[in-house]
Amino acid sequence: MVGTAHRNTGVEGVEGGVGLTALMVAAARAIETHRHDSLARDVYAEHFVLAAPASAGWPVRMRQVPDGDANPLWGRFARYFGLRTRVLDDFLLRSAHVRGARQVVLLGAGLDSRAFRLDWPSGCVVFEIDREGVLEFKHKVLDGLSAAPKAARVPIPVDLRADWVTALADAGFDTAAPSVWLAEGLLFYLPNAAETYLIEAIDRLSAGGSALAFEVKLDKDLLEYRDSPLYTATKHQIGIDLLNLFAREPRPDSAGDLADKGWSTSVHTPFDFTHRHGRGPLPEENDALAGNRWVFADKPRP
Ligand SMILES: C[S@@+](CC[C@H](N)C(=O)[O-])C[C@H]1O[C@@H](n2cnc3c(N)ncnc32)[C@H](O)[C@@H]1O
Repeated sequence: MVGTAHRNTGVEGVEGGVGLTALMVAAARAIETHRHDSLARDVYAEHFVLAAPASAGWPVRMRQVPDGDANPLWGRFARYFGLRTRVLDDFLLRSAHVRGARQVVLLGAGLDSRAFRLDWPSGCVVFEIDREGVLEFKHKVLDGLSAAPKAARVPIPVDLRADWVTALADAGFDTAAPSVWLAEGLLFYLPNAAETYLIEAIDRLSAGGSALAFEVKLDKDLLEYRDSPLYTATKHQIGIDLLNLFAREPRPDSAGDLADKGWSTSVHTPFDFTHRHGRGPLPEENDALAGNRWVFADKPRP
């Protein structure tokens, strides 16, 4: 309903297409979990990687990576995901515990296990939106582990290019209560029109006091970095051609659009947080992460 041009058509689960990127992030989180200086711990992550035929042979510990931190995918890129996980864990917990949001919406949730691993305040509901095949795989693994969520968890199998707003309303989302939204590693896979719709919908559905964090890539020529170590390692080591999965069309200015709607926004590079935490990726030449920005937005209370 919101644009059909999409590069990640075809595979619905985690075995290929954009779904496979969820396994890549899970492997990165597994590696991060077992680092001596880990930024985030996710004990479920390795189970996803070990359960999927598509990720057979992928590492879940740094010692399984022969060149260790020098490996552009399982070293620097994995650390990037570790840092992102930590920063967004902190954002969500702050929004729930300090700002009082009791509804958490994970857009393109993939294999995010935050509903199971973070300490949510009582009365919290975590809505997880992703495509059916991805959520099915996730449930199979979590059921096998007898994992118990630490909040009420509501999976919503729907495509974010379709009418996800109705699906969220049907699942019990309350527009009158503050919410916190997350689009982590998602927007660059969506068509421009789906991103515009998503931002408009979040604004419409968010009561004052709500918050949103999302990740974008600056509107530069993505192909400028086509030979970067990060893209080439990801393609050659695990067969994920990120540039081919990204929706390569001009992006909306979602941070600007939210500011126009009255939200207060702040835009950071990941490197800002590397400095804050004392570990994580730093800028380098020919850097596929150079255009990544993490945006945080708050909707004022009336
Ligand atoms: C890189 S993964 C990130 C997953 C998760 N947010 C994380 O950081 O671990 C991208 C996720 O977006 C989901 N996704 C991409 N396009 C989607 C769409 N049109 N509708 C629903 N989910 C989508 C994929 O299925 C995948 O799980």
